[in-house]
Amino acid sequence: MDNIVSWTVEDEAIIATNTDATECKRCAVELGYWKDDYIKYFAKHVDRKAPEINRGYYARVKAMEMFIHQFLERCDTKCQIINLGCGFDTLYWRLKDTTQAVANFIELDFPAVVRKKYQIIKRNKQLLEKICNEDGEVVIRSGDVHAAGYHLAACDLRCEREVARQLAACEARADAPTLLLAECVLVYLRPGAGDALLRQLAAAFPRAALLLYEQCNLADRFGEVMLRNLHARGVSLEGAAAAGPPHAQARRALAAGWARARSWDMREVWRALPDADRARADRLEPLDERELLQQLHAHYALTVASRGEIFADLDLHA
Ligand SMILES: C[S@@+](CC[C@H](N)C(=O)[O-])C[C@H]1O[C@@H](n2cnc3c(N)ncnc32)[C@H](O)[C@@H]1O
Repeated sequence: MDNIVSWTVEDEAIIATNTDATECKRCAVELGYWKDDYIKYFAKHVDRKAPEINRGYYARVKAMEMFIHQFLERCDTKCQIINLGCGFDTLYWRLKDTTQAVANFIELDFPAVVRKKYQIIKRNKQLLEKICNEDGEVVIRSGDVHAAGYHLAACDLRCEREVARQLAACEARADAPTLLLAECVLVYLRPGAGDALLRQLAAAFPRAALLLYEQCNLADRFGEVMLRNLHARGVSLEGAAAAGPPHAQARRALAAGWARARSWDMREVWRALPDADRARADRLEPLDERELLQQLHAHYALTVASRGEIFADLDLHA
């Protein structure tokens, strides 16, 4: 049962959410919220988004960065990062420009996204040269991309057997410190499939940290409107039932076998960002409607779960 998943028209609509995320990130980058020299290759033309949207993405990217940094501080670069439902995320390239490039970086998404991401990588030297080893070798197998320390593979995250097979093909190691990222992904999976994935990952990686960024508190009026808007675009967030209050997401991870888990809504995360970062955002784009940003932040949560002592002290207030 767990491995029989049929492809639906809705999957196409889910894939389109990646285009949205990429365009929003590019817009915020162009306005100067954070630096990303690679996002421009993945989203060509973008309309200016509302300041609250830009601010929301800024908080999301900063929060993820903060925990990625904490993870890397604890295990150095002899580790692996697995980006689940990676979309057109550029983290691999951004880390390559620092001293923090990791031993193995694995990206998983639907075949259509993987295909498109590789086409873009292939067309742009600045992206391609960073996945080639000294011999310039990149192996393409069944549309998947395998290079030394970088793998981009097609995988339906609802299918346990496929996840296991692709992680092995991408040389994921059970004994390596592992950072798992799922940024706006689990919410597209039925709760049962999301739980199974969390359980599978907890069992597979005994020394690991998991960062989940997801919608939360969808039961109120704001959540209702959000769900209706997505529905109109053909997406019916199958995991919405699991998107309760933030602490429910931590409980979910604990129930799936993660040793520790904590969640914060994005209002809390925003307050925990360095004063200088928040002040800079205010200078970039003043907000007319602060209430709107508060509402948006109240409907997204960051969850950090871990296994293994080395990651026991990952914290928002570290
Ligand atoms: C909103 S986008 C987020 C992309 C990226 N994580 C980011 O934050 O920029 C959601 C991504 O999850 C992927 N996704 C959703 N359900 C999936 C599934 N069952 N298997 C693989 N990928 C999935 C989509 O294709 C899409 O790329």
